Amino acid sequence: MWTTEKQEKFRAKIREFAEGEIAPIAARMDEEQHFSEHLVSRMNELGLLGMVVDAKYGGTYVDTLTYIVAVEELSRICGSAGIIIAAHNSLGCWPIYQFGTEEQKKRFLPEITTGGKLSSFGLTEPGAGSDAGGTKTFAEKVDGGFKVNGSKCWITNGGVASTIVFTARTTHAKDTHAISSFVVKSGAKGFTIGKKENKLGVRASDTRVLHFDDCFIPDSDLLGEVGSGFKQFMMTLDGGRISIGALALGIAQGAYDVAIKYAKHHQQFGQPIADFQAVAFKLADMATQLQAARHLIYHSAVLKDEGKRRFTTEAAMAKLFASEVGNFVTYQAMMILGADGYSEKYPVERLHRDLKICEIGEGTSEIQRLVISRNVLKEIE
Ligand code: CAA
Repeated sequence: MWTTEKQEKFRAKIREFAEGEIAPIAARMDEEQHFSEHLVSRMNELGLLGMVVDAKYGGTYVDTLTYIVAVEELSRICGSAGIIIAAHNSLGCWPIYQFGTEEQKKRFLPEITTGGKLSSFGLTEPGAGSDAGGTKTFAEKVDGGFKVNGSKCWITNGGVASTIVFTARTTHAKDTHAISSFVVKSGAKGFTIGKKENKLGVRASDTRVLHFDDCFIPDSDLLGEVGSGFKQFMMTLDGGRISIGALALGIAQGAYDVAIKYAKHHQQFGQPIADFQAVAFKLADMATQLQAARHLIYHSAVLKDEGKRRFTTEAAMAKLFASEVGNFVTYQAMMILGADGYSEKYPVERLHRDLKICEIGEGTSEIQRLVISRNVLKEIE
């Protein structure tokens, strides 16, 4: 199909790690909402924190498809591990790597690519969720930099990141060209981390509100040109949406793998339940949907690396389709397992809960439909 022998070897390595080291602790981390520093440190040892950044800046660069395979394999066992890695690489590291100056890349990236520290992406605000251009956080120009006031919410890795990229308005104009992007370090004066959110799924990931109270950001930490922040963040989300597709695909594959094994062994009416067509046909639909989602995701990953044209539509399609497939597959897996699927005896109920963020984060399914419809309608005269 899309992957090479080398990429499949890499998949096997990440699968072995996820099954051997994450599976035994995933349920407890979920139950206790425990963010595991040990897990992050192990993922760093495996090079999973620097996948979108060149070795010149401390990264462990791999092509996008290889990165996507890693997110898929982590998520197959634990959605939290998947989202920690996806948000860090695609949303935290990538914009610095892509839009930063040489000096900024050398200063910010080594610590968050192989230095063991995480990064995060501050776009969302209470009134700027789907309407990302509705940003209210304001960066007032002062001598030598900007004084920032405002807050961000629902920030994945928010309380555990050393480096955060974020957007703020730099003029009072209403349009998106008034938005700029910056980098802030977690210890900066005037920057505080709010309470940890209590979530339905991906509960072992750290999601926070972030506050800026007269937080001084030096000119040297502005990312790109003043006024280019919205566009940069939209481009970042194009890549991020492929990784959320992979998160959904991995979670769904995990639930499917449990369900098919269960159906072949669990007996009712004197035979394995897989011998009932009602169950076998569910498995057929699940396998087909998974395969279709995988094609969309891998295709958009390849398009991204080819770099010949924008892949906004394909990334939105991949995320939309994979997350809805994920919802379907994890739900059907629960139905196949019956009460066992509804209980903590199997990971299926956790995977079903973990999946939900894929239909919300990095743009809801409605936003993906908006992006896709705008673009396909543009193609017709
Ligand atoms: N690439 C490059 N440029 C882009 C772009 C893209 N993908 N998308 C938009 N732009 C540019 C446009 O070309 C336009 O530029 P000009 O003004 O120069 O012509 C400018 O940006 C404004 O674009 P729009 O008019 O399309 O902007 P809009 O206000 O209508 O918003 C939107 C479009 C698609 C609704 C956008 O606001 C959006 O994506 N919303 C969802 C936000 C989102 O996904 N948030 C997720 C937060 S992160 C998260 O969830 C992480 C997590 O922890 C899980």
